[in-house]
Amino acid sequence: MPWERVGAACRMGYARWAKGSAHERRVFCFRYFYQIPPNPGLLLLAAVLIDGWIHRWPAFGMLRYWTAGESHGKGILALIDGFPAGVEVDTGLIDAELRRRQGGYGRGGRQRIEADRVELLSGTWHNKTVGSPIALWVANRDYKLEGLDDVDRPRPGHGDLSGAMKYLAPIRAILERASARETAARVAAGALAKQLLVHFGITAFGYVTEVGGVRIDPRPGGLAGQRALRDRSELYTLDPGRDGELKALIDRCRKEGDTLGGVIEVRVEGVPFGLGSHAQWDRKLDGRLAQSVMAVQAIKGVEIGLGFEAARRKGSQVHDPIHYDPTQRDRPNLGFTRPTNHAGGLEAGMSNAQPIVLRAAMKPISTLAKPLESINLRTKQPEAAAYERSDVCAVAAASVIVENVVAFEVASALVDKFGGDSLEEMKARWELYQRLATAR
Ligand SMILES: Cc1cc2nc3c(=O)[nH]c(=O)nc-3n(C[C@H](O)[C@H](O)[C@H](O)COP(=O)(O)O)c2cc1C
Repeated sequence: MPWERVGAACRMGYARWAKGSAHERRVFCFRYFYQIPPNPGLLLLAAVLIDGWIHRWPAFGMLRYWTAGESHGKGILALIDGFPAGVEVDTGLIDAELRRRQGGYGRGGRQRIEADRVELLSGTWHNKTVGSPIALWVANRDYKLEGLDDVDRPRPGHGDLSGAMKYLAPIRAILERASARETAARVAAGALAKQLLVHFGITAFGYVTEVGGVRIDPRPGGLAGQRALRDRSELYTLDPGRDGELKALIDRCRKEGDTLGGVIEVRVEGVPFGLGSHAQWDRKLDGRLAQSVMAVQAIKGVEIGLGFEAARRKGSQVHDPIHYDPTQRDRPNLGFTRPTNHAGGLEAGMSNAQPIVLRAAMKPISTLAKPLESINLRTKQPEAAAYERSDVCAVAAASVIVENVVAFEVASALVDKFGGDSLEEMKARWELYQRLATAR
């Protein structure tokens, strides 16, 4: 029995180890490990543990982040690990994204209280990243957590009921962390990641394409022109001329005590070949993007390229033909052009050097001024759900969040492919890769 031999080897090993010199103790693991007969299960376990230790799973790549903080706590924190050294940080650019996240027509009173500004707590020296963990802090002006009461009537569509049951905790504890206030940290992390992407000519751009079922088609045109259009729109669409119609829709909804959702589109341009991988499920970039976008509060659907529409068409109307134009050899597409981009820039989990195009569906806000039926958790009697100051429509703000979480994930995949400890090293590897690929 291999397990008996494992046990005997361990006992014998321990006895020797206990008696041995320091040097003997150091080598004992190796000597006694080799007495154990090869066992595929043990080897697999060892491989998984070593792989887990190296990659610190379940995180996907080397560049990753976590957030901490409650909606009415002292503030919100993003802790970013694996960010290359040598990137100049402009906190003004992060603040600009935080301001956009707080804007958009349809928001509630909270946005008038907060005026988010990021504070860089660690990970830089003379304004440049140094490869150490970066802590970004956004203070809450509306800090009053300790003075707030609990909620006893869970709101349908929120984590109130499930969280209170799961953690055997007050609803207040759940809603404070589940709240979309946390996305200030995700936007800050994404806005920092964009400052890495810019060195590789990669841009992420998000806008609203639908509010409460009303479609606003993006106007065709270059990035600069579209950015100007979006920045003029109070709903962050690419057609500010239709803001009046959308604002009237939101106002009607507010009067009815109801809420609205919508659809967001994000386009990432300048992406080279080969971010992500076909080789393992958790390295596929389409999957990684879907996870990071789906994890944004109130996002209930993610599509890449044609998405669900692809299921309704024939193959010849879905797949993008491959052409070659030698004049484009020096671009990230290496000369390979596609007359259409139905795949949304991703094939087999890898970027195909076309723009990545992703859409996200946001459900209507769950807290209703005219509340739905619920149960009082103390009495177990039917009562209307709780109401707290709330947004009526936050699709515009969500477009900023989705844009930034996409930017972070693309930056993480970029570090995986061209990684290195510094921007300089990444750039050198990027250039080497372009040279090798064009020489093929
Ligand atoms: C930008 C943004 C703002 C939001 N504002 C509110 C709000 O004011 N009131 C509310 O009830 N939900 C709001 N939500 C949605 C909730 O945070 C979310 O629905 C809830 O945490 C449950 O998570 P789930 O919808 O992902 O299942 C907002 C979401 C986003 C992205």
